[in-house]
Amino acid sequence: MLLPYFQWFETTTIGTAIKNSSWAFAVIESVHLLALAVIGGAVLMLDLRLLGLGLRRQPIPEVAREAQPWLVGSLIVMLITGFALFSSEATKCYYSTPFWVKMTSLALAMAFTFTVRRRVSVVAIRDRPSAIIYWPPRPRPFVASVGSAPSVGAPVPDEPRNSFRPSG
Ligand code: HEM
Repeated sequence: MLLPYFQWFETTTIGTAIKNSSWAFAVIESVHLLALAVIGGAVLMLDLRLLGLGLRRQPIPEVAREAQPWLVGSLIVMLITGFALFSSEATKCYYSTPFWVKMTSLALAMAFTFTVRRRVSVVAIRDRPSAIIYWPPRPRPFVASVGSAPSVGAPVPDEPRNSFRPSG
């Protein structure tokens, strides 16, 4: 059903130009993969921070804010270069199962990133700093842990509430 549309992509100016060039595909794919390295870094930075495995002195919303331009910028580069590569071999992509798996995963990952992940890293913590969950649990003085909630998954109200600078 979609095959005629895919075949049309290969007849576009950009599709034919890349197909007829001996170097364009390689250069664009290199940029595509460089952007993949950047997006991987931007995702890992915040995810490791959310897991409490790095940058622990920086509040989560601050890490999220600093990673955001790299995440969005590299995603834009991936989308542009991806579509350029695609336009030069759209029919091959149509018959490729990995391509369909990749596009479905990409759509799900983007939906998750800009809704749930954004909410837990920026919005929820901005609105309710005490909701921050520390994993692995931070060591606490004995006295503080007696009578308080179990530390794993429990709110820790005395940090970074004060160090957090809300965005405008
Ligand atoms: C975050 C998003 C994306 C990631 C992580 C990603 C990842 C990759 C990787 C790792 C490769 C190299 C595969 C290989 O040659 O073995 C690749 C190639 C490619 N990508 Fe993407 N990509 C993304 C977005 C897109 C988009 C949006 C499109 C097009 C609609 C696209 C189309 C292609 C095509 C056509 C190739 C060349 C496949 C081949 O060698 O025949 N990509 N991508």
